[in-house]
Amino acid sequence: MKVLVTGGCGYIGSHTCVELLDNGYDVVVVDNLSNSKENVIEKIKKITGKKIKFYKEDICNKNKLDEIFSKEKIDAVIHFAGFKAVGESVKKPLMYYRNNLDSTITLLEVMNKHNCKKIVFSSSATVYGSPKKLPITEDSSLHTTNPYGTTKLMIEMILNDLYISDNDWSIAILRYFNPIGAHKSGLIGEDPNGIPNNLMPYIVKVATKELKELSVFGNDYDTIDGTGVRDYIHVVDLAKGHIKAIEKVSKDKGIDTYNLGTGNGYSVLQIINTFKEVNKVDVPYKIVERRDGDIASCYASCEKAKKLLNWEAKLDIYEMCRDSYNYVKKNK
Ligand code: NAD
Ligand code: UFG
Repeated sequence: MKVLVTGGCGYIGSHTCVELLDNGYDVVVVDNLSNSKENVIEKIKKITGKKIKFYKEDICNKNKLDEIFSKEKIDAVIHFAGFKAVGESVKKPLMYYRNNLDSTITLLEVMNKHNCKKIVFSSSATVYGSPKKLPITEDSSLHTTNPYGTTKLMIEMILNDLYISDNDWSIAILRYFNPIGAHKSGLIGEDPNGIPNNLMPYIVKVATKELKELSVFGNDYDTIDGTGVRDYIHVVDLAKGHIKAIEKVSKDKGIDTYNLGTGNGYSVLQIINTFKEVNKVDVPYKIVERRDGDIASCYASCEKAKKLLNWEAKLDIYEMCRDSYNYVKKNK
């Protein structure tokens, strides 16, 4: 079976390519490298010992995408490509709407033309906004607070409308919680340029002394120690969830949405302390004001994915902290 992975050079996409190849799938990657590097393809080959096809193209380019579909005879698509920085989306909303929506609509049109109607889509827990009850189930109310989140919610709606119009489609919408960690080889992982927005990349840069200290955004939330609680999930577990989703869309028609998290919430201080203990490094920090738009706690109910996809996360917070640091140390 041949799977097209859009955004396959990125953080989650690259780990998913490894899992697909390890599970015997043929993989075709289309990525415009707007937030990744081409050498990721060589690294995926090195980890798996398998061949992988790469096209450096923008998936908003309909003619090119059409050529790729004509040539490759794609059976199913995993769609990661898109912009993902919340703060940037507030400053440049049109860039986010253009890229995330245009790329998806173009992709769906080309898939339709080639009668390829199986897709797994990367959504986000951000579509739950400020959750009213925890753990968050898939039927919770949806609400977005920034243009990035709105693009995810709009794409979910587009996919729903598409299925209503044509019941031949098989669609899995995956709402990720907070992916961290890296492949144990240390060859692929996440190391954003500049000053990171997210907690784990920031902690890693403090541990490697690239940044002086971490600012912990608030210690007066109603949580175990006052700091924000999130559902961190190892990116390799997340990648394995995509294999289960591909199996599901290959077997059953329909549209369904699944949370991919661990079901456990950890506070910022718990993450810092675990990171220090596992990696035997110091992570200096100071407590500062709350960050605008942050919520106290967010963690998933993963019962639906367990029941219908036969998937659950296996790797724990120690492995997540170890592998995040290992990747950056090896690639400094
Ligand atoms: P990433 O930026 O590492 O990967 C996205 C990839 O898509 C990059 O390689 C980029 O070059 C490519 N891309 C972007 N626009 C493109 C276009 N028009 N044509 C071709 N390629 C394009 O991000 P990631 O962390 O791997 O996230 C993957 C997906 O998961 C994204 O859709 C993101 O919104 C979603 N997601 C991520 C997180 C997270 O915390 N990382 C959480 C929830 C959802
Ligand atoms: N935090 C700090 N200091 C930092 C960075 C983060 O204290 O320098 C805290 C935050 O206040 C929060 C926790 O660490 O309590 C996690 O913050 P992240 O920025 O790592 O993650 P978020 O949960 O805020 O958001 C992430 C992605 C969103 C996505 C969401 C749910 O950035 O795009 O997870 O998937 F929508």
